[in-house]
Parts: sequence; C-alpha cells; structure tokens
Amino acid sequence: MKLHAITLGCQMSAADGSETLARLRERGWAAAESPEDADAIFLTTCSVRDHAEQRALSLIGRLREWKAKDPKRFLVVAGCVAERLGQRLAKRFPHVDLVLGSKKAGSYADLVAEAFAVRNSESPKAIRNPAGGDSVVQSLTIMRGCSCACSYCIVPSVRGPELCRPADEILAEARARLAGGARELILLGQRVNAWRDGDRDLAGLLRELDSLPGLARLRFMSPHPALCDERLFAALAGCRTACEWLHLPVQSGSDRLLGLMGRGYTRGQFLDTARRLRAAVRGVVVSTDIIVGFPSETEAEFAETLGLVSELRPATAFCFKYSGREGTPAAELADDVPAAVKEARLAAVNAVVDRHTAQALQEAVGSMVEVLAETPTFGRTRTGFKARWKSPVAAGRLAPLRVTAATRRTLLGDIHEPHDP
Ligand code: 5AD
Ligand code: SF4
Repeated sequence: MKLHAITLGCQMSAADGSETLARLRERGWAAAESPEDADAIFLTTCSVRDHAEQRALSLIGRLREWKAKDPKRFLVVAGCVAERLGQRLAKRFPHVDLVLGSKKAGSYADLVAEAFAVRNSESPKAIRNPAGGDSVVQSLTIMRGCSCACSYCIVPSVRGPELCRPADEILAEARARLAGGARELILLGQRVNAWRDGDRDLAGLLRELDSLPGLARLRFMSPHPALCDERLFAALAGCRTACEWLHLPVQSGSDRLLGLMGRGYTRGQFLDTARRLRAAVRGVVVSTDIIVGFPSETEAEFAETLGLVSELRPATAFCFKYSGREGTPAAELADDVPAAVKEARLAAVNAVVDRHTAQALQEAVGSMVEVLAETPTFGRTRTGFKARWKSPVAAGRLAPLRVTAATRRTLLGDIHEPHDP
C-alpha cells in the first residue's frame, strides 16, 4: 500500500503526519511521492486561523477528482479541522473515507490501518521500505494538547488538555531516531515548557537528551513566555547540543490586549524574560508570533506592538491578522477592527520585522558559523538561519561556513573543511 502524506499547519501537525507515515511504514506501507502514485492520502489539517481552515476545505474539495479516478483509493482527513467539524466534514465531502480528529493524534496510524483493513477486508500487502524517518532534522512530539486558555485560540478545544509523554518513552524514541540517521531533534509541544514527568521538567529533559550519542543539535518549540525560568535558560546555555535560538510568542505589545488575550504576562514581564534569556545564553536569537487586529485594538495599542518588536529585535516573526474562531472566548467579542485596518497593521508590522531580519542576516556576513547540512548544499545555523553553499557536504554533517552574503531570508557562504567525523 502506498501512502501520500500532506500536511497543512504547524510543526505539530507536520510531526503528526510524518509520525503516522513512519508507523505505517513499520506495518509494511510505503511512502508515495505524489498523490497520483498513492493508494491512500493522509491529510493533516489546521484550524488555528480561518484562512488555514479554508485552505484545508478547498484542498479536500479538489481531492474529489483524485478519489474519483479509482474508488478503491482511500482518503483520510485528520487534524484540527477534522476535530472541529467532525462528521459535518464527512457529510459535506462524501468522498472522504475517514475523519480523524486531532485528539486521536496519538493513534492515527492504528486507526488508519484498521479502517483500511475493514474496508478492504484484507491487510495491506507488505512492501518493505527502509525503516523510520530519513531526514537529518526530525521533530519529536513530547506533549499533546494545551491547558492554556488564550482567549483567541482554538487549540485547547480541538487538541484537548495537555498530555505529556513519559520521559523514558521520549528518550527511547530519541535514541531510535538518532540510530535511524537524525542529527537534530526539535521537541514539540503547544506549550512545550509545561512538559513534566513526575519531578522531571523540560530543563532536565534537555540535559538527559544532550548526552545521547549521535545528537548534534537540540531545539524545542514553542515555550510559553510566562513559564520561562532561569533553570531553562541555564540548560540552554549549558547543553552542548541546545541551539542558541528561542521562539517566544508575544502576540501583542499592549498590556490591555495581553490581558484580554489571557496571556498571563505583561509587556514589561515579557521584555524582562527576553533580557534575562539574552544575558544567560550568549548569542541567542529570538523569534516571535504577533496577532494584529484583536477585537478593540486601537491605533495606539498597535503602535505599542510595533514598539515592542523594535525593542525585542526578533530575527523573524510570524505575524497574523486576528480571526475569530468559533467557540473561543474572544469570538464573543465584536470583531471590530475593519479588514482594511488589519491588513494595514499586518503590513506595517511585517515591514518592521523585515528590517530586523535583514539586519540580523547582514550582521552574520563575514563571520564563521556552524551549519548542519540537511542536503549537500543547504542547512541551518545554530541560530536558526537558513544557509546555502556550493561545495557539497554529506547530509547530516556539521561544517563551518564562512558567510559571504545574504539574500532576503538566507545566508550564502563557503564551506571550510567539515570538522566533525
Ligand atoms: N487569529 C490569529 N492568529 C492566531 N494565532 C492563534 N490563534 C489565532 C487567531 N484566532 C496565532 C498566534 C499563535 C500562532 C500559532 O497562531 O500568534 O502563536
Ligand atoms: Fe497546529 Fe494549531 Fe493548526 Fe492544530 S490548529 S494544526 S495545533 S496550528
């Protein structure tokens, strides 16, 4: 059986997709390069913003043709849109064979295999593929769901409350991924620094993972700013593999809006956290998320967000126009910032962010940085910048790069002799 996985949405969604594919491969399924080549499609969807959900719905609509070419084909729609719309989705799109909401993300592979077997009343023929994931950088989900109550966010309702995976399971999976060729692990959770197993916390987990043979780099995302403490910063600074990069979503620079959003910190507290991080971890690069046009946001409050971005100096930021999500507390508020104003604010904040990105890239020009080759001529720096070079390096190797120039989002340079065996 050949399965093609398509992911829309965040890294968590992408990790669910690749994990499902990996588990099904263990059961004898193979990966199909394209839908045309596939007996089954596994689509993970995102509903965090209305735009993402509309994209998912239109893709599902277009897959009607794929399915019509051979009714034996099997279409699975999983993820947050599946959770939110459930059987409404099946009704609207009768060509969908199976709807799996994101609360079932831990058992997608079992459920797909089961449903497929029941429908075809046969088990899939074994087509053995080289086991496991094959990329240099792999995500590892350490917790699912979210117990936060940010007023704009649909995640707690579609993914359910926080559920932490036990440390031993995470360590075993990390070892297996490293044995299969992974060099960098990105630990994933909606509020990843809320991870706990008894008295073990994320800082402790980083230290345990740090000593695993074969591991070159370790990252995690996304931490909640209100839960960042010196213990975590000390682990970031002290672990050989922990990268000097942190995604710290701020959302707004206005205390009134942060209150309405239920973020649990003020502007001052957030900036203080970023300052302490920078003091603890030399050379750390920060990125963030911003929402513009939250209900009742005034021009002056938006200006506070612009000011915060200038103070924070993130190397990148993901900026979004607020969209009301059904069932969230914020959806009760009037969505009163006009679309054109949201658009203008988004453009304004993106312009500020782009200046910081350009500056951060320019500052790297002339320096030597360590890159991890994800392909022979592409990789990332420890600080998370994309980098390209000409003379090929084996994927999975660390190599020193002399940065000679930068494009809008990428460093360019020359490789010096790879320094790790
Ligand atoms: N509207 C706009 N942006 C949102 N995000 C989450 N919910 C919404 C919403 N309703 C953004 C936040 C979050 C990122 C994953 O998506 O910035 O950090
Ligand atoms: Fe990921 Fe959130 Fe989208 Fe779900 S709703 S796929 S958790 S971004």
